[in-house]
Amino acid sequence: MEKKLLLLVIFGISFSLPSLALANDYVGSESCFECHAEQYNKWQASGHPWKLRTADKARYAKLPLPPGYAWDDISYVIGGAIKKARYIDKQGYIITTAKDGSEAKTQYNLEDGSWSFYHKGEKKPYKCGPCHMTAYSPEGHQDNLEGMIGTWAEDGISCEECHGPGMEHLRKPSKETIKIDTTADACGKCHQRGGMGPEPPAKGGFIRHHEQINELKAGVHKDLNCIDCHNPHERAILTSKDICAECHDGIAQSYAKTTHGEQGTGCIECHMPKAGKSAISVASYTGDVRTHIFKINTDANAEMFKEVEEKGKKTLFAKNAVTVEYTCLSCHGSRDKDWAAKHAKNFHAMK
Ligand code: HEC
Ligand code: HEC
Ligand code: HEC
Ligand code: HEC
Ligand code: HEC
Ligand code: HEC
Ligand code: HEC
Ligand code: HEC
Repeated sequence: MEKKLLLLVIFGISFSLPSLALANDYVGSESCFECHAEQYNKWQASGHPWKLRTADKARYAKLPLPPGYAWDDISYVIGGAIKKARYIDKQGYIITTAKDGSEAKTQYNLEDGSWSFYHKGEKKPYKCGPCHMTAYSPEGHQDNLEGMIGTWAEDGISCEECHGPGMEHLRKPSKETIKIDTTADACGKCHQRGGMGPEPPAKGGFIRHHEQINELKAGVHKDLNCIDCHNPHERAILTSKDICAECHDGIAQSYAKTTHGEQGTGCIECHMPKAGKSAISVASYTGDVRTHIFKINTDANAEMFKEVEEKGKKTLFAKNAVTVEYTCLSCHGSRDKDWAAKHAKNFHAMK
């Protein structure tokens, strides 16, 4: 009994503090493929492994470069798999100007091929590792590049960032030698902004990106875990189309017979509108990140955001419900908020 407890404690510690594990306890994702090809292949097609890519890998992804730069001037590319790409120079700094130092837009947006300014002209070290890497440590400089803050075992979010170091598991492959953490906090440690509380920071009329846990906790599904809806190895768009019906069967059935249901509008179009913004917004009230608040406030005077003043500094936060301009006007662009509110009330009671 005591031995068992001790064992638990040892495992608990080494698993919850992976940075204390020896770097060479990390064996790399490639070594998982042999026995877990299904998870590996799904994960390869998700965003997680592509968070940071060496120029050698990224140059084949046909991404364009900031003005004046050639691939030989680039050490790494950040993202560039889903929404946007930023680029790192040979000293490890994020590129914020044209090659000759003149003003230029240096963030590439995948959805429409446009470019945005990113910290224009600043000297910007790459300090983003805690959320982007496997077994991140704040000590030292990866590849000895001055601008790269910290070191890590593998670029991007690999198998072992979520499952812990795999050396022991390779020696004795079984369920006992590897961890699985199914809590929302396990995902929320990166999918958050300013902590994991129920206050999603907002800016310029949109919720900011990487705040899924803040939104989840602010909204009606605060007791759910991310993996109640997501396969952790897959892209979000592959989340089952009928995921809402699994728990809201009654509404799903009656909804299917309404005008919107019949012409194929999915639940997420209204309950998870693109009220967040990562790279671009294509119209007022339409950003590029779906919200996880879910609840709709049908009051025509309801505000989506609240301003909080602390120590003279004003910050905008999203409230606990999505308002109808975000929910309805992305499709009904010629209407206004009063129209939307009127038709949104008791939505599922109407036929
Ligand atoms: C030589 C084959 C082999 C390799 C290589 C391997 N595993 Fe496993 N893995 C297993 C076996 C066997 C199990 C137990 C399956 C069972 O009991 O159903 C397992 C189970 C797991 C589980 C599920 C644990 C649970 O509680 O259900 C995870 C997660 C996992 N492995 C992750 C990894 C990761 C990450 C790597 C790479 C670092 C890896 N595995 C490499 C054979 C392997
Ligand atoms: C973002 C975190 C994350 C990453 C990255 C990740 N996993 Fe998982 N994995 C999980 C979670 C959480 C579960 C439990 C899922 C559940 O219970 O529904 C899981 C489950 C598993 C299982 C058990 C069977 C299953 O599919 O549920 C295996 C095996 C596994 N992962 C292997 C891997 C391998 C191999 C990689 C890398 C190629 C990997 N995982 C990458 C979080 C992750
Ligand atoms: C170590 C930090 C980290 C952890 C832990 C993490 N993520 Fe992520 N996640 C990211 C980053 C960074 C991206 C963006 C990847 C990219 O596009 O380059 C991302 C992307 C995603 C996407 C892809 C979005 C899309 O458009 O398809 C989903 C879905 C996702 N994560 C879900 C999860 C879930 C579920 C968990 C927990 C099981 C989890 N993540 C754990 C950092 C993390
Ligand atoms: C608190 C964790 C966290 C920090 C810190 C963070 N990111 Fe991210 N980042 C994420 C997550 C999670 C996503 C994906 C989910 C989302 O965007 O809503 C993401 C997405 C991105 C993407 C889009 C990837 C793609 O394929 O479209 C880029 C580019 C990016 N981050 C760059 C950066 C840079 C540069 C820094 C540092 C200056 C940084 N991030 C710091 C968590 C973080
Ligand atoms: C109630 C179900 C549900 C829960 C719980 C949930 N998600 Fe999602 N998530 C979805 C659906 C549905 C989508 C949209 C998929 C699509 O675009 O087709 C999505 C989209 C996403 C995206 C991509 C957003 C975008 O538009 O770029 C990320 C990242 C993500 N989820 C991460 C998370 C994380 C992390 C958690 C836990 C903190 C979580 N989700 C909890 C259902 C859920
Ligand atoms: C794993 C189960 C589960 C899934 C999947 C799920 N929900 Fe829920 N949902 C719940 C629970 C539990 C509640 C809280 C019920 C309550 O408070 O009465 C809830 C509440 C809600 C509410 C608020 C209800 C109210 O009375 O105000 C809305 C809206 C909602 N869900 C929409 C969705 C949508 C849209 C999806 C799909 C993207 C979805 N849910 C997926 C379990 C789920
Ligand atoms: C065209 C927009 C739209 C679509 C699509 C939609 N809903 Fe709703 N839903 C609403 C609005 C608006 C409300 C709020 C009504 C109110 O508060 O009076 C609502 C309320 C809800 C509620 C809580 C209140 C209630 O009536 O019980 C749940 C749960 C819900 N929807 C689930 C779903 C599910 C599941 C789907 C997909 C099968 C879906 N909705 C599709 C607009 C939509
Ligand atoms: C994804 C796009 C989309 C979203 C989001 C959406 N709608 Fe619609 N709506 C449609 C389409 C398509 C039609 C059918 C138009 C037609 O038949 O001419 C429609 C028709 C309608 C109609 C008239 C048809 C009828 O008989 O009911 C009303 C009223 C309406 N929508 C209200 C709303 C409200 C309120 C919301 C927000 C809660 C909303 N819609 C969100 C696409 C959308």
